[in-house]
Amino acid sequence: MLYLYLKALHIIFVTSWFAGLFYLPRIFVNLAMAAPGAETDRLLLMAGKLFRFMTPLAVLALAFGLWLWLGFGIGGGWLHAKLSLVALLVAYHGYCGRLLARFRAGRNAKSHVWYRFFNEIPVLILFAVVILVVVKPF
Ligand code: HEM
Repeated sequence: MLYLYLKALHIIFVTSWFAGLFYLPRIFVNLAMAAPGAETDRLLLMAGKLFRFMTPLAVLALAFGLWLWLGFGIGGGWLHAKLSLVALLVAYHGYCGRLLARFRAGRNAKSHVWYRFFNEIPVLILFAVVILVVVKPF
């Protein structure tokens, strides 16, 4: 029973974290197109608040995942493959923080098209991870 509640919490925090992982790079697309001024300031405020909110959600999602894994003797190839993808996702999250810092410093060097492609990376990771945990193909 505890296991199922922990899994439910894991899924809730993963979903909430992903809301940010999907939306923050969308704000970057708009920031990359905006001229300096009021619009940029508002977008920077939105991005900053979102990123600050996303980080504790990521920590909770990972903490419940680790509890499920280490507390209940779960294992298998699918889990190792999933953990590699989770490591990529954490790197993506950290890189978003660096990109945000560059926008704040007025030093963004990437185009809105680049951010549109960058925005798709969490979608691909989500597809792969959900298939791995549900199907457990190996
Ligand atoms: C440190 C990171 C993580 C660890 C150690 C971890 C571990 C686990 C474990 C052990 C389970 C239970 C599997 C089962 O009962 O069959 C689980 C379930 C799940 N995890 Fe994670 N997880 C982590 C991060 C993530 C992330 C980032 C995502 C999304 C991209 C995710 C998505 C899911 C989903 C959707 C389930 C439910 C699968 C089901 O219905 O059985 N996890 N996780």
